[in-house]
Amino acid sequence: MKIRIAVFVDEQKFPLDTEADEYDAVAIHLLLRLVPSLEPIGTIRLITPKYKLTRLCVLPRYRKLRLGDLLVKELHKYAIQDARTRSLDQITIVTHSQIPVKAFYKRSGYVEEGEEFDEEGAPHQKMLVTLQVDETRKPEER
Ligand SMILES: CC(C)(COP(=O)(O)OP(=O)(O)OC[C@H]1O[C@@H](n2cnc3c(N)ncnc32)[C@H](O)[C@@H]1OP(=O)(O)O)[C@@H](O)C(=O)NCCC(=O)NCCS
Repeated sequence: MKIRIAVFVDEQKFPLDTEADEYDAVAIHLLLRLVPSLEPIGTIRLITPKYKLTRLCVLPRYRKLRLGDLLVKELHKYAIQDARTRSLDQITIVTHSQIPVKAFYKRSGYVEEGEEFDEEGAPHQKMLVTLQVDETRKPEER
């Protein structure tokens, strides 16, 4: 939460009172930490079972090191594990991207759906990626 407040509230000026929401208690949170200090430097959140990627952020001094990319990849892995326990063949992960980071999500396979819309006073774009849960399993084993 400290990282989220530093990035979304202090840096990007989103409201503090909506930073924590009803999903925090039930979502999956991944925390990226430096070693050996274990200082937290990034985070991402997955809401299940609707598979929504939210609250992705990396502290400014650690950006452009592929760490955001790493967080997205790890979230995808987690979502696929979760989907396996639900016997799903594929899942679609959705995110509401801020406009300046659309290109970042596109690199991970996300595509736009629909028009831009306002969320918390800033323009966003719904983006989706579909992931195969187990590409090595034959169709008859599914
Ligand atoms: C979005 C964010 C998490 C990206 O983290 P990052 O660690 O800097 O990103 P990465 O280094 O993994 O970037 C992976 C690739 O995407 C590119 N990229 C990163 N941010 C980008 C941006 N804003 N626009 C376009 N491309 C971007 C990088 O250049 C990199 O490509 P390269 O390897 O060819 O150079 C980070 O910028 C951040 O915390 N921003 C503020 C919070 C935010 O906006 N979160 C998203 C909410 S929707």
